[in-house]
Amino acid sequence: MLIRAARPEDLEDIYQLVTYYANQGALLPRTRESLVAHLPHLAVAYQNSRLAGVVALHRLEPTVSEVRSLAVDPAFHKQGIGQQLVLYAVHQAEAEGYHKVIAFTRQVTFFEHCGFHAVPRESVPGKYFIDCVGCPMLTHCDEIAMERVLSVDSTRTSLTAAPASLT
Ligand SMILES: CC(C)(COP(=O)(O)OP(=O)(O)OC[C@H]1O[C@@H](n2cnc3c(N)ncnc32)[C@H](O)[C@@H]1OP(=O)(O)O)[C@@H](O)C(=O)NCCC(=O)NCCS
Repeated sequence: MLIRAARPEDLEDIYQLVTYYANQGALLPRTRESLVAHLPHLAVAYQNSRLAGVVALHRLEPTVSEVRSLAVDPAFHKQGIGQQLVLYAVHQAEAEGYHKVIAFTRQVTFFEHCGFHAVPRESVPGKYFIDCVGCPMLTHCDEIAMERVLSVDSTRTSLTAAPASLT
C-alpha cells in the first residue's frame, strides 16, 4: 500500500469516494472544484493501482489543523489504511509546525486508535467560527471534537496563510 500526496489524476476517484460517503451522511459533500482548490492538502492511499482512501489536512487556526474528508473504500476497511492515512496527516502537520490536529467525528473509537482524545468543542474556536456557525446541524450536532497534541519543534514557525474552507 502506498500513501502519497494527491495528484490531479486522482481527483475524480477522490470525488467519487467522498461523494459515496457524503450521500450516506458520513462526510460533508465536496465539489470537484473544492477538491481541485485543496489538492495540495490531500493525500491518498493506493493499493494495487486502485484508490483505497483519502485524507485532507486543513488549517483551522495558526497552530491547529484538522483532519477532514477521511474516507476508506469499503473494500479496504479494517486493514489499517484509515489509521495510516491519519498518521500521514499527523506527520504532515508536525512537519508544518502545527501544535495539534483535531477531528470532528462520530468515529470516536477509530480516532482513539489513532492517538486522539475527546475535548470540549469550545476548545476549538476556529472550527466554530469557520464551519459551525453556518451549519444547519449547529444546534443538534452529534460529532465529537477530538484532538491529538503534536511534538512541536519550537524553532519552527507555524503557517500564516489565511484559513480557507474546503467547501
Ligand atoms: C472510519 C474509517 C476511515 C476507518 O477506516 P479503516 O481503514 O477501516 O480503519 P483501520 O483499519 O485503520 O482501523 C484502525 C483501528 O480502528 C478500528 N476501527 C476502524 N473503524 C472502526 C469503527 N467504525 N468503530 C470502531 N473501531 C473501528 C479498527 O478495528 C482498528 O483497530 P485495531 O488497530 O485494534 O485493529 C472508515 O470506516 C471510513 O471511511 N468510514 C466512512 C467515512 C468516515 O466516517 N470518515 C471519518 C469522518 S471523520
